[in-house]
Parts: sequence; structure tokens; C-alpha cells
Amino acid sequence: MRKPFVAGNWKMNTDSHISVNLAKSIISGSLEVAGHSVDVALCPPFVYLQAVAIALSTSSIALGAQDIYTESKGAFTGEISASMLKDVGCTYALCGHSERRHVIGETDELVNKKVTAAISGGILPILCVGELIEQRQASQTTEVVTRQINKGLAGLNDEKVSAVTLAYEPVWAIGTGLTATPQQAQEVHALIRELIGRIYDSALADEIRILYGGSAKPDNAADLMRQPDVDGLLVGGASLNADDFLAIIKAAV
Ligand code: PGA
Repeated sequence: MRKPFVAGNWKMNTDSHISVNLAKSIISGSLEVAGHSVDVALCPPFVYLQAVAIALSTSSIALGAQDIYTESKGAFTGEISASMLKDVGCTYALCGHSERRHVIGETDELVNKKVTAAISGGILPILCVGELIEQRQASQTTEVVTRQINKGLAGLNDEKVSAVTLAYEPVWAIGTGLTATPQQAQEVHALIRELIGRIYDSALADEIRILYGGSAKPDNAADLMRQPDVDGLLVGGASLNADDFLAIIKAAV
């Protein structure tokens, strides 16, 4: 059985004070479930990782980064390596989030290097995939998601891929208030799981967790989670409000 997993992506929000207080409210409101019946991770901006790590240190909530670099150290101004993330207590890193792909311009090849570097450095990657609205309208969702998964996981053997969490985030649903219907989410999640079965094997496909992201909110979380191939939620906007995020965590149990 796949354990539900809810991750909060704070994006470029909060400050040092707000990030610690938000983490503390989430810890105290999820004591009975986090780490037991549901895995929970918080992904603050890089500069607040350490402060949030301290707040989380006595809890069962994991820390995640929003990005990671492909190299382990050296002259890469502004970048952050897997070993640095590990050093400050990170367990996870998002790789290929749609804002990195579409705002910053990350390619599938770069995302693959990030996923690979994360695993080599002991960080569990959350590989994000998803189509643009024009691609959905042109019936290219399967093609886009298949390409992003194939390229994102290129070169990873069974053992390495078992460190990966996948996140399906239709770009048109991110931060827009539009959510994929539970059926739309299920359709793509099932396709992704089938693809993993074809690239690897059915045991791995059964095991790998596939999160849905894109305007996940307290009022749609339970319906999304009821879908057989939706194993958790990657939450942006609603993760900045402790009550909303806690309601989503509870809906995922
Ligand atoms: P959203 O963001 O919940 O604000 O739509 C999701 C994400 O980008 O991970």
C-alpha cells in the first residue's frame, strides 16, 4: 500500500518569521497523523530551510527544497547542491516544477540531471510533470507527460527510481484556481503508472507515489485523494495557510 504524501510548496513566499511560525502551526495541528498515516513535507525558500529545519527537528514532518543543482560543488554561482540540502536537513527536492520549466526555462535534460544528482546526493527527488493548456486542448497531454517522464527518469535503474516521487501538475491548474477534475487527474495518474510499469516493472509501478498538484484545496482534496492512482497532493497556495494545509493533510489520511 502506498502511504499518502502531502507536500507544501511555499514558492517565493513567507519571511524568516512567517516560515517558522507556519511550520510550527502545521506541526502542532498534524501531530497525530504526520509521519504515521500520511507523510508530510514542507518546501520553504532556500534561505529559510535551516530555520524551518530547526522548527521541524522534533517533528515527523520532512523538509524539502524547491530546487536543486546538478553538480555537487564548485563555481556555480547562486546554485545549491544535494550535499548542502542534506547538510541542512532536507529529505526531498522538487525537480522540474512547472515554474522552473516555463518561467526559468529548464529543459527535460536539465531536469533529468537534477533528479540524478539528487538521488546520488541522498536527496529524494519529486519529479514534476504536466501539460500547458494549449497542449491539453490539442490532445497532447499523453505525449507531453510521457516525454517528461521518459526524459526525466532517463538513465535511472530500478533501485534509483524507487527514490523518486512523481507529481502530475497540469500547468493550467497551478495557481489559477482551476483544478483538474478528479477524473482528469486519475486519467493522467493511471497513464503515468502504466508508463512506469512499461519502463520498469509492475512492482515498481505499484510502489511509486504519484502526487497531484494544481489548486489543491481543502474542498477538493478528499475527492482527488479518492482516486485510486492519486497518492497525495503537492500544494502551493493553500500550503501558506496553516488551517487550509492541515485540512488537506487530514483529507489525505
Ligand atoms: P497551487 O500550486 O496549489 O498554488 O496551484 C501547486 C504547485 O505549483 O505545486
